[in-house]
Amino acid sequence: MGDIDPAFVQEEEHRPKLSIIEAQGIPEIDLSPLFHHQVPNPSAIDALVKEIGSACKEWGFFQVTNHGVPQSLRQKLEEASRLFFAQSLEEKRKVARDAINPSGYYDTEHTKNVRDWKEVFDFISHDPTLIPLSSDENDDRVTQWTNPSPQYPPQFRAIIEEYIQEVEKLAYRLLELIALSLGLEAKRFEEFFKDQTSFIRFNHYPPCPYPHLALGVGRHKDAGALTILAQDEVGGLEVKRKSDQEWVLVKPTPDAYIINVGDIIQVWSNDTYESVEHRVMVNSARERFSIPFFFFPAHYTEVKPLEELTNEENPPKYRPYNWGKFLVNRKGSNFAKKKVENIQIYHYKIA
Ligand code: OGA
Ligand code: NI
Repeated sequence: MGDIDPAFVQEEEHRPKLSIIEAQGIPEIDLSPLFHHQVPNPSAIDALVKEIGSACKEWGFFQVTNHGVPQSLRQKLEEASRLFFAQSLEEKRKVARDAINPSGYYDTEHTKNVRDWKEVFDFISHDPTLIPLSSDENDDRVTQWTNPSPQYPPQFRAIIEEYIQEVEKLAYRLLELIALSLGLEAKRFEEFFKDQTSFIRFNHYPPCPYPHLALGVGRHKDAGALTILAQDEVGGLEVKRKSDQEWVLVKPTPDAYIINVGDIIQVWSNDTYESVEHRVMVNSARERFSIPFFFFPAHYTEVKPLEELTNEENPPKYRPYNWGKFLVNRKGSNFAKKKVENIQIYHYKIA
């Protein structure tokens, strides 16, 4: 193999250190108190809410175990993902995304205008999904996103749909715990997700001969409300630790999910919780697979700090923005390399 394509090369300051800090990792939270049906145990739920609250505040990231998503279903999904990516490029491109419909296969995503060392298959969780036609604020037209139907592996679409139902239940449960941890009613956020724009992504990070120069995904924050990530046993996800700004590897825990607070929860909570930067290292020996579920509200949601969490001493830190416009803007800028930074929540920050 010759030299690396410069499109993949990170600026020096953003290149990964190949010696890794693993100590003091993200908190691990056992969700089993949610599943004791016989007698509800309010003190166990209270303790869980406190744990979630501290994890959101101190890390913005945590892992959950005993989360209710059947392990066999996750395994079926992971197996299907491997089979899908093992196909030829020509086969995969039969379900390629395009500039209009962002669901499907592609291998040219750029994060912060540097190309990621990965290929992905995106699938919206509710087909069709209503979405603004353009990111132009004066354009009221709405369109629909739909999913392609991959022919291989057989049943891929059915397995994905079954998995989405389960992972969505987990998303709603986590949202309730987060609402409670902010002193809100458990169902405070639910209304925003009635016509949700969520999607699931299959990531494949092939082995990379230049792990010191390239990243699987460059540093970024997730734009939505929550991300629920299944990673395999290889490892590579790094989180920027809030206490000292060091990049910390998230050690794979079998069957656990990695949860992170996205930008929308940061805005809703008026910065009580922050969406934390993360990135993915690649390695020269092993390929890696991961499957994030991005929990996104309805396109017409006006994202803004909640009234209950603001007052005269703590005024709103953000101007409201329209989620659908934000999302369409992002999708467009991820599709092709641009000279300017893509849209970020701090653009709505009140000075
Ligand atoms: C993402 C992401 C992490 C991973 O796709 O936004 O952060 O481990 N992925 O694949
Ligand atoms: Ni991410």
